Amino acid sequence: MEEMLACLRGWHPGLAFAELAALLPGAALQQETSERWIRVSGSEEKQRREALSLASGLQCFLRSGLVVSTKDCTPERFLNEMESYLKHHPVNGSVAVRAWKQGSKLPGWSLSTLSGRLGGLLHDSGCSINLESPDHVLALISDGPSSAIACGWMEGDGKAAFSNGERRAGERPFFKPVSLDPMLARLAVNLAAGPLGRGPVVDPMTGTGGFVIEASLSGRPSRGIDIHSEMVQGAQANLVWAHEGEAPAHAQVVRGDATRLAESLPEDWLGNVAGFVLDPPYGRNSHGSMAADHLLESCLQSAREVAHPQGGFVLILPIYPLQEHTTLPLSFNQNIALLNGEWSDVLTVIERCGWQPQSAHVERVHRSLSRLILHARCAPQD
Ligand SMILES: C[S@@+](CC[C@H](N)C(=O)[O-])C[C@H]1O[C@@H](n2cnc3c(N)ncnc32)[C@H](O)[C@@H]1O
Repeated sequence: MEEMLACLRGWHPGLAFAELAALLPGAALQQETSERWIRVSGSEEKQRREALSLASGLQCFLRSGLVVSTKDCTPERFLNEMESYLKHHPVNGSVAVRAWKQGSKLPGWSLSTLSGRLGGLLHDSGCSINLESPDHVLALISDGPSSAIACGWMEGDGKAAFSNGERRAGERPFFKPVSLDPMLARLAVNLAAGPLGRGPVVDPMTGTGGFVIEASLSGRPSRGIDIHSEMVQGAQANLVWAHEGEAPAHAQVVRGDATRLAESLPEDWLGNVAGFVLDPPYGRNSHGSMAADHLLESCLQSAREVAHPQGGFVLILPIYPLQEHTTLPLSFNQNIALLNGEWSDVLTVIERCGWQPQSAHVERVHRSLSRLILHARCAPQD
């Protein structure tokens, strides 16, 4: 299987890495010099195509992508290496070169000159150039923060923005300040549930339905649950709206209690739920049905009872900003100041309910608020 270079979108490379690992569970991932480039070995094309269609943080793959440091290389040497790359990776059909930059320009490296020279190499090797709709695109990416250039045949369309970005939460028929951004909601669904076909997705406290919308649009059987009928009606209206006016057969929103999930799920889902996405209530705008710590514990217990043995969850909690913001995964020993309760208590509760924390990342919301995105899996049972 050919090694690929995964190129991540810029909004949160750390979370995008975790999402990619969840969508390609059999592959080995290794960070390249840029935090947005990941070496992927052991993945099949079918899995990568699915990851490209589902992921929130993945931009494209480059086949055996070449990476050079612009500090240790010259444009001429890079072009020589690309000449050899093109010999070893021939393609059939028409071609084009597409170049883009991440961050600042690299002094002495002109992307437009290099694109022209690469186009010349392709032409000389007998390829027909088609800038409108090529069969193959050679991507050329410069990364300012790591002073590096990546190049290779592209899989995926390389769009820099989340392809469903036009579906902003504020445009839905039912909006509340608690509504999560679709980009984060999609990432959380993928992180919790992994590739398609593993089983249904459940959002036990659905609010305005952001997770169910993303789970259902990605083709996953899904169910949102909320204790308040106003939320249930609103989230169902949002779901229908997201499916262009037709209620999807594979997703619903129902009234129910996150602490008694089995009562709100179809019988054949019990023991088979692949992923839970949890955004429990906080603040004045969305009151829970019981004290926050009890609600979380009872919900995690109930989720564990109906989860597939390899199931996972993603929990989103508001926190005070870290002193130094990072997109890297946090250490579980690190002191994290939750808006409600203690971080160590949350970890204890998670483990007590039969889950094993996998990773924790922070996303900045504004100057005085961040979010913790915690991923956990079912702990193996003896
Ligand atoms: C923070 S909001 C969820 C926001 C959601 N992620 C969104 O994008 O709109 C939490 C939701 O949990 C619901 N809730 C509180 N206690 C519940 C319970 N015991 N069972 C089900 N839902 C509950 C509240 O009604 C509220 O809508």
